[in-house]
Amino acid sequence: MISSKIAIKLEGVSTVYEGERRPAIRDINLTVEKNELVYVLGPNASGKTTLLETINGLLPIFHGKISVFGLDITTQGRRARCEIGYVPQDFMVEPGEPYTAFDVVMMGRYSKIGVLNKPDKRDHEQVAETMKLLEIENLARRPMGKLSGGQQQKVMIARALAKEPKILLFDEPFSNLDPESRENIPLLINTFHKEKEMTTLIVTHDLQGMLENCGRVVVINNGRVMVNDTPDKALEQWRSLS
Ligand SMILES: Nc1ncnc2c1ncn2[C@@H]1O[C@H](COP(=O)(O)OP(=O)(O)O)[C@@H](O)[C@H]1O
Ligand SMILES: [Mg+2]
Repeated sequence: MISSKIAIKLEGVSTVYEGERRPAIRDINLTVEKNELVYVLGPNASGKTTLLETINGLLPIFHGKISVFGLDITTQGRRARCEIGYVPQDFMVEPGEPYTAFDVVMMGRYSKIGVLNKPDKRDHEQVAETMKLLEIENLARRPMGKLSGGQQQKVMIARALAKEPKILLFDEPFSNLDPESRENIPLLINTFHKEKEMTTLIVTHDLQGMLENCGRVVVINNGRVMVNDTPDKALEQWRSLS
């Protein structure tokens, strides 16, 4: 199953939120090949977050079909999600949150090994290594609720990477970061993408730190795919649209 060359395929996908009449994304056709790195751009409220959450099987699809390495997300969503690392845009952390940064990164491993299994040496090593790469090993024992927004963002990125998924979905992953991390973390994502062959989708509304490995840019507006092209061509069209 995992040998499929197509990582993500959306066919005529529309998503309607409960109580709404208008679909937030509509009639999306999109194919992402294994090992591609794709940027998704678009103005506020254009449907970028909805697109990622729909791919991740977190929202009911109104119309159409999505497969992840050949797994239909409506019928095999749990198996599909084992292959996906997701960094949400609006992760809510209560100030009294008892979980430490280490616990949160380890949750990435649990979502791969199953909550009923005990993490082994390899899981611990993977968590430690990923936290070191993100330079958050000093935060390991601190409760999530006591960290700054930028620190929490790094923990969430580490959680996704520690899972070692086949697919990474990032929703505005650089928005809360300090200027130095805004330069370093895109490079780190680039390295993971290249060395671990992770198919990567990055949603953003700006192009600062655009990654050199980016092969394709998708622009959405009003819930529809307006542009799906090489970065040069897509950016030209994006500028003419905005
Ligand atoms: N939970 C929700 N319920 C109803 N409408 C929503 C919900 N979340 C988002 N929307 C609407 O869906 C559209 C797309 O939102 P979103 O995917 O968050 O856009 P983006 O991430 O591009 O800013 C917007 O019009 C937004 O108001
Ligand atoms: Mg969003």
